[in-house]
Amino acid sequence: MRLRNVKNAQEILDSCAFLIKNPKEYKGKYKDLFANNNPICLEIGMGKGDFIKQMAQNYPNINFIGVEKMTSILARAIQNLTPCHLPNVKVMRVDALELQQIFSCEISTIYLNFSDPWPKSRHAKRRLTSEIFLNIYDDIFKDTKTIIQKTDNVPLFESSIISLTNHGYKIEDISLDLHQTPKENYMTEYEKKFAKENIKINYLKATKK
Ligand SMILES: C[S@@+](CC[C@H](N)C(=O)[O-])C[C@H]1O[C@@H](n2cnc3c(N)ncnc32)[C@H](O)[C@@H]1O
Repeated sequence: MRLRNVKNAQEILDSCAFLIKNPKEYKGKYKDLFANNNPICLEIGMGKGDFIKQMAQNYPNINFIGVEKMTSILARAIQNLTPCHLPNVKVMRVDALELQQIFSCEISTIYLNFSDPWPKSRHAKRRLTSEIFLNIYDDIFKDTKTIIQKTDNVPLFESSIISLTNHGYKIEDISLDLHQTPKENYMTEYEKKFAKENIKINYLKATKK
């Protein structure tokens, strides 16, 4: 996601009440942070937060945590989410590589929306569905592991199917043209842009017991 540096980004993060400032301290205790036993879902690479905002509004009994590694982008997400006052949303500025140090068997679903495709094979390890990340996710899921991916990028989608299947996931649901498939769907910022350009969206839901 391209974004000019947001000048006061760090101040926006510092004054945000729903930013988890010290995420490692809550490892194994995220239900206490939300003060309920509702499922906890992550969106990794949340961008400006459009998806998580709509999900949290429509599913008040599910907790959502937005994970974003870029300070400026997270600042924009915070500005987007703040007026909504959603008690079931928190955000953290974290690289997904650190998630094992932050969560312990407490996540129900991971959403990967329009993740960076890393097209060069020498960068394949950086894809959020590479073996490295799937091993990290194994440790943070609670029981049944569920990953839901949307992408315009066909090579990333194909490599995700191979990687997920090799890792023991079953592809439960798939669409090569999500917007022509009757399914509940909340659009992300990138997705809205692609929809305007009539670019097909690939969707999958993968689970592992
Ligand atoms: C292409 S954008 C998509 C944003 C949003 N999900 C959407 O669909 O509009 C990918 C986002 O993922 C973030 N990202 C990429 N790798 C990440 C990682 N390892 N950990 C956390 N965030 C990451 C980027 O900073 C960027 O904001």
